[in-house]
Amino acid sequence: MADGTSENVSSNQMWGGRFASGPDAIMEEINASIGFDKKLYAQDIRGSIAHATMLAHQGIISAEDKDKIVHGLNTILSEIEAGGFEFSRKLEDIHMNVEARLATLIGPAAGRLHTARSRNDQVALDFRLWVKEELQKTEKALTSLIAAFLDRAEEHAETVMPGFTHLQTAQPVTFGHHCMAYVEMFGRDRSRVRDAIVRLDECPIGAAALAGTGYPIDRHMTAAALGFREPTRNSIDTVSDRDFALEFLSIASIAATHLSRLAEEIVIWSTPQFGFIRLSDAFSTGSSIMPQKKNPDAAELVRAKTGRINGSLIALLTVMKGLPLAYSKDMQEDKEQVFDAAESIELAIAAMTGMVRDMTIRADRMKAAAGSGYSTATDLADWLVRAVGLPFRDAHHVTGRAVALAEQKGCDLSELSLEELQAINPAITDAVYDVVTVEASVASRKSFGGTAPVEVRRQIAWWRERV
Ligand code: ARG
Repeated sequence: MADGTSENVSSNQMWGGRFASGPDAIMEEINASIGFDKKLYAQDIRGSIAHATMLAHQGIISAEDKDKIVHGLNTILSEIEAGGFEFSRKLEDIHMNVEARLATLIGPAAGRLHTARSRNDQVALDFRLWVKEELQKTEKALTSLIAAFLDRAEEHAETVMPGFTHLQTAQPVTFGHHCMAYVEMFGRDRSRVRDAIVRLDECPIGAAALAGTGYPIDRHMTAAALGFREPTRNSIDTVSDRDFALEFLSIASIAATHLSRLAEEIVIWSTPQFGFIRLSDAFSTGSSIMPQKKNPDAAELVRAKTGRINGSLIALLTVMKGLPLAYSKDMQEDKEQVFDAAESIELAIAAMTGMVRDMTIRADRMKAAAGSGYSTATDLADWLVRAVGLPFRDAHHVTGRAVALAEQKGCDLSELSLEELQAINPAITDAVYDVVTVEASVASRKSFGGTAPVEVRRQIAWWRERV
């Protein structure tokens, strides 16, 4: 009914014209989305104001009705923000809750708002606006995380630690270099966010139910008013597409995967056995039974959130697969996944930023571990190639024998005497002791992107210009 009232109180007042009775209680429960899509209230109202303004500009509704509509919508916005708005499940979703309230507030003019649009393009608009804002937040959060890592990397550009492959000591690296590896990962995540914003930046409103509309609307005007680059180009695609939500979820999944790897390292590094870092009290918990314990709960929860975020991606991919064009109600299931993943990724990034900023780096422990496990064996082999002129394969073999001897004696490579080394290969001189220390090892790796402090500082400078 134009005035928002209905002869049949139990059928839906927005679309109940041809229905004799209201929905079954179970139908109402499965159908309603207001429980979660009320999150879209601000976007819904903003979209409606832009739409009504355009309708009046195009002479489709009167300026007077437009003013009433805009005023009413702003009132509803304040009501919702003040917590005084009563959402009704009978009204299904946010769109109809707002419109029904508008009818109560301004009377018949409210019925003109839904001219030349449908809930199909309306929900596509609201959700795109929401995801766009969420992506912008994610970009900011990732930038803070990157900045936290840059500070730690700078502080520890010279701090040596063991580098691992197969979680076995491989070669010494600097902690700064290890931090910068995460900067690269989160930097790629951030660039994926930026790409997604560019692709998403098209305005759906005006696609109407699926075929566009016969009213002389101006979609460029609404697109500009809502801060989109341009309107979407195909009305069928517009109401069918949820790629932007899938992209958000896949970006969140990849970022969560990076966070989870870092979380795992934090868990390992903070064990008494490794003791590479000490987590701040602010990001750990105690045990109710074992007084000595300090548990890395925040890191563990970040690691676990990844499962949840990946689950959301798979859920929405599965909802969308096999859906015929254009809109189907299945698509209503898009929001909870995205809302949940958004909350999880925001929290995970924030917690990780805090942990990275607060953790104490135990440089002494890192250094001691860096030298264990014959981590400079490759340096010895490389020296044999450079200084003695051995082919790398032979140098590898000679070094293997030196490692075996050190292992047998229970000492470090640098603790073998010159006589012992010369017994393996007589060409070895005492210059070898300059290359088998962990400091010499990392300082020598000056190749572009390598672990040498000068190289790490160059990487940091490159990134500083980009945060
Ligand atoms: N609550 C619905 C959703 O989230 C809004 C669109 C409903 N459109 C429709 N034709 N029933 O998808």
